[in-house]
Amino acid sequence: MSHSAVEIIRAKRDGAELSEDRIRWFLDAYTRGEVADEQASALLMAVFFRGMTPAELSAWTDAMIRSGRRLDLSSVPMPTVDKHSTGGVGDKISLPLCPLVAACGVAVPQLSGRGLGHTGGTLDKLEAIPGIRTALSGDEFVAQLAEIGAVICAAGPDLAPADRKLYALRDVTGTVESIPLIASSIMSKKIAEGTAGLVLDVKFGSGAFMTEVDRSRELARTMVGLGDAHGVRTVALLTDMDTPLGRTAGNGLEIRETLEVLEGGGPADVVEVTLALAREMLDLAGVDADPAAALRDGRAMDRWRTMIRAQGGDPDASLPVARHIEEVRADRDGFVTRLDAMAVGVAAWRLGAGRARKEDPVSPAAGVVLRVAQGDPVRAGAVIAELHADDEDHLSSGRDAFAAAARIGDAPPPPAPRVLERIAAG
Ligand code: URA
Repeated sequence: MSHSAVEIIRAKRDGAELSEDRIRWFLDAYTRGEVADEQASALLMAVFFRGMTPAELSAWTDAMIRSGRRLDLSSVPMPTVDKHSTGGVGDKISLPLCPLVAACGVAVPQLSGRGLGHTGGTLDKLEAIPGIRTALSGDEFVAQLAEIGAVICAAGPDLAPADRKLYALRDVTGTVESIPLIASSIMSKKIAEGTAGLVLDVKFGSGAFMTEVDRSRELARTMVGLGDAHGVRTVALLTDMDTPLGRTAGNGLEIRETLEVLEGGGPADVVEVTLALAREMLDLAGVDADPAAALRDGRAMDRWRTMIRAQGGDPDASLPVARHIEEVRADRDGFVTRLDAMAVGVAAWRLGAGRARKEDPVSPAAGVVLRVAQGDPVRAGAVIAELHADDEDHLSSGRDAFAAAARIGDAPPPPAPRVLERIAAG
């Protein structure tokens, strides 16, 4: 049945509940270019202020999934469980997690994205590896998943195309920060990807998309509900992103830290979050395995090397090194009372690791290496961080941004757990 875009916008604006039929018609007509950007913008703003009822949210998500192709992973001879993070600073967890979980017998179909602003993107990090291909066809994606159990690549254009258009529009109309719009955007892509299970890492804190823990919890609950309603068993962990994860923020630098984790070392917090998510993924798949053992005995590293080779990369190639490396030193004795995720993320971005617009290139070598963590004791003159940049302009801009990142005081801050809460369907 045909509808009027204006009537749908008016109805939502005035607080009426939209029927499944109206939502499906609107999103379909918008994806085909029959509803104009300004009309979709108006509806998004109405949703931003009015929210969505559970029925509307379910219909909206369903319409986004139906706007494209739903991948069929039935040829994969292992259970499938994916992971999604709402993004943060130094969040390289998908990189060690995917081969680790695959090494334990669960296939991980990771369709990832690129970074924008202060948060990095998994594809940008992976592309620091010489030769790697992240643009795989749907058939290549499924074939690699079936053979190796691990694949990290970009989503094709036919995966939830309605979301692709709507997300670009939200970015320029001030309608990104809406829980139903975020939840439907993330979950439509994950459901269309065909995974049987999904573990969400929903972050809160200064470097996260949602800074307040209550909003993150609400987002997590909404996404878990949507996953379950669409037949994807979903669990979420709420994790702290007030201070960067691990010691690096920047593409090639985070690959280096990933390799440390896969060698059985690496920063304790990266290992903790990786193992917590891995255990949830194995649990969802009903597989009884010890991921810590797979890190220790090299099985996760072997799977990483196989995955990188399958995507054309050389796991033994040297990673790019920045031309300029500058040390930042402590100006007094004391404790690191604050290492702010947002400020470190902005510094890495200004150093060249991130992009301001979707089409900007990123440097594979630039970023921040932290030599201390929040809570550590320091001496005046000790190195607290290294700034890596390809040229003087980026170095100077990153140096200015990093000035706001670290504070040193007289007493250590109370320790904060990385993993705060687990949210499952109730
Ligand atoms: N990531 C997405 O894919 N969609 C959003 O709306 C926000 C973050």
